[in-house]
Amino acid sequence: MHLDFVTLMVGARMASFFKLLTLSLLTAVSCFTFTPNAYSLDIHELFETRCGNCHQHSGELALKKLVIENGVLRGENSGNVIDIFLPMHFGHPNPEETTALYDLFLWQVRAAGCLKAVAPFVMLGPGN
Ligand code: HEC
Repeated sequence: MHLDFVTLMVGARMASFFKLLTLSLLTAVSCFTFTPNAYSLDIHELFETRCGNCHQHSGELALKKLVIENGVLRGENSGNVIDIFLPMHFGHPNPEETTALYDLFLWQVRAAGCLKAVAPFVMLGPGN
């Protein structure tokens, strides 16, 4: 009887642990299932030719300078709303280019956030 109780408790704990793990993994998966929209322009080419003289990598720029606040991408220190800022900035992207750059940065900042969220599970992974 006592043993049954212990078994039950352990079973329940394991079940809630796995429930939690499954939930976290689902969050992680849904985190990664969004992708930037497809555009007719080549965003990497655009960044390299028009921004690359001053900014090395778009991902590095996004992670160092930008944050998402209430779903809006802003400069962390400047507070600039990035799709308003970009057309006035060097390289002067047109509206389509601005949207594509904005989406790229947004995706990069989100993906980095997702990676941080799943990092503990990566550490728990087999062989670690
Ligand atoms: C002539 C150099 C130069 C070019 C070309 C340039 N930038 Fe910048 N950019 C800067 C400087 C200087 C800053 C402000 C200092 C900083 O934040 O590093 C900046 C800041 C930014 C920021 C951060 C804004 C904020 O409010 O924090 C973003 C995003 C950005 N640039 C994107 C771009 C994109 C996209 C392009 C190409 C379309 C581009 N830049 C082209 C020099 C440049």
